[in-house]
Amino acid sequence: MDTLKRRKVRDLLKAEPGIEVLAKGWVRTKRGNRQVKFIALNDGSTINNIQVVAEAGKFDEQLLKDITTGASIAVKGHLVPSIGSGQAVEIQASEIELYGTCDPVRYPLQKKDTSLEFLRSIAHLRLRTNTFGAVLRIRNAMAFAIHKFFYDKGFVYLHTPLITESDAEGAGDMFQVTTLDLANVPVHGGKVDFSKDFFGKKTSLTVSGQLEGELGATAVGEIYTFGPTFRAENSNTPRHLAEFWMIEPEMAFYDIEDNMELAEEFVKFLVQYALDNCMDDLRFLNDKYDDGLVERLRSVLGIDFERVTYTRAVEILEDAVAHGVQFEYPVHWGTDFQSEHERYLVEKHFGRPVILTDFPKDIKAFYMKQNDDGKTVRGMDVLFPKIGEIIGGSEREASLEKLEARIDELGMSRKNLEWYIDTRRYGTVPHSGFGLGFERLLLFVTGMANIRDVIPFPRTPKNAEF
Ligand code: 4AD
Ligand code: MG
Repeated sequence: MDTLKRRKVRDLLKAEPGIEVLAKGWVRTKRGNRQVKFIALNDGSTINNIQVVAEAGKFDEQLLKDITTGASIAVKGHLVPSIGSGQAVEIQASEIELYGTCDPVRYPLQKKDTSLEFLRSIAHLRLRTNTFGAVLRIRNAMAFAIHKFFYDKGFVYLHTPLITESDAEGAGDMFQVTTLDLANVPVHGGKVDFSKDFFGKKTSLTVSGQLEGELGATAVGEIYTFGPTFRAENSNTPRHLAEFWMIEPEMAFYDIEDNMELAEEFVKFLVQYALDNCMDDLRFLNDKYDDGLVERLRSVLGIDFERVTYTRAVEILEDAVAHGVQFEYPVHWGTDFQSEHERYLVEKHFGRPVILTDFPKDIKAFYMKQNDDGKTVRGMDVLFPKIGEIIGGSEREASLEKLEARIDELGMSRKNLEWYIDTRRYGTVPHSGFGLGFERLLLFVTGMANIRDVIPFPRTPKNAEF
């Protein structure tokens, strides 16, 4: 059997019939009668199965019995045109090797009612389902497309640290990193003595690679990061993870307009890439979970995103409330929008993705460029249908005086940020950047409703299994 080279199901399904082939994979289903068995074999390379036809007389009875859903096998046989399987070809089996049996009574994926909630409780096995196969392949294609987009533009992929001293977003929801014995913490002057800790200071997992990204951009011009970020916010929502992946481009000599243009081009490129390269998986998800998916993906490509200031958006929302629209959270100038507000703007009012700009400075991070009105900053949030915020970014404050004043005003420590402030001290330049939440993008591209279902091993409050 092993003199033949194994070929992936994805390739076999496209191959010309008339050849000897070797396929390996897991059994999705087995049906048939006493004379002949039809085995649907999947190896994860595609959503589609290849049909294996096994004539009962040619094989050991016990072997055929042991080939149950979930069992792993190798099949050698003749690739022939298929009449009934819905595929062009199938394998007429001549040899079958059983690698591993799969007890049909205990195998949890045997059941028909495998809800997404149930699958989350067996996350080590849910990856074997058609749904997660599709999600994982799309996730992989999107990661590749992200690197391709930036590589082709000459951006440098910058690796920023995961362990850091700085709270880039100033929200304070960081996971601390320590080797101190928590049952016996060293104390000095009534406070924890972090000089005894591994790094000699208090450190955490990063919430964003942006600040280090700015150092890269002001050195090699255009960079992007693509890595995990961590937030200890206690948000148990379908859109928040405690560990998520973020893509953060940062560009010297870009103003907010250039920034918006790049963001729009970027997400459109990714959606187009998915439509061009992941159609089998998209169709599957479309048909199983969300029959508007493919249509919605196409719909964002042909149109310009709506650009609107925060102040104008508040007027629109207040007007909506005056006309009877009910929101759970109140909205007025100065509040941070909730996802219900974002979705109203995108889905009801404009009917297209929206880029919000010029937010009140008090709801945004210290590094955003201050507008002349003294009240707003040059931030931008890209809002998408069904999801709300998918991108957050801004032009950065390039003036040393203004940046220092804002850090002081917020009561942040300038001392810990001197390395960052140096970018404004030595040849400061206008520059901008943004962060795309990778899993938020995947929510949009896959049509899945819960962010836990677009990452293989979700980390959420009270949940860090596997
Ligand atoms: O808006 P955020 O907090 O912006 C930043 O972190 C900036 N440093 C980005 C930059 O300008 N370089 O986060 C950016 C994006 C959000 O728009 C959202 O898509 C995603 O990251 N995000 C999350 N995704 C999943 N779970 C969470 N808890 C998230 N928090 C933010
Ligand atoms: Mg944000």
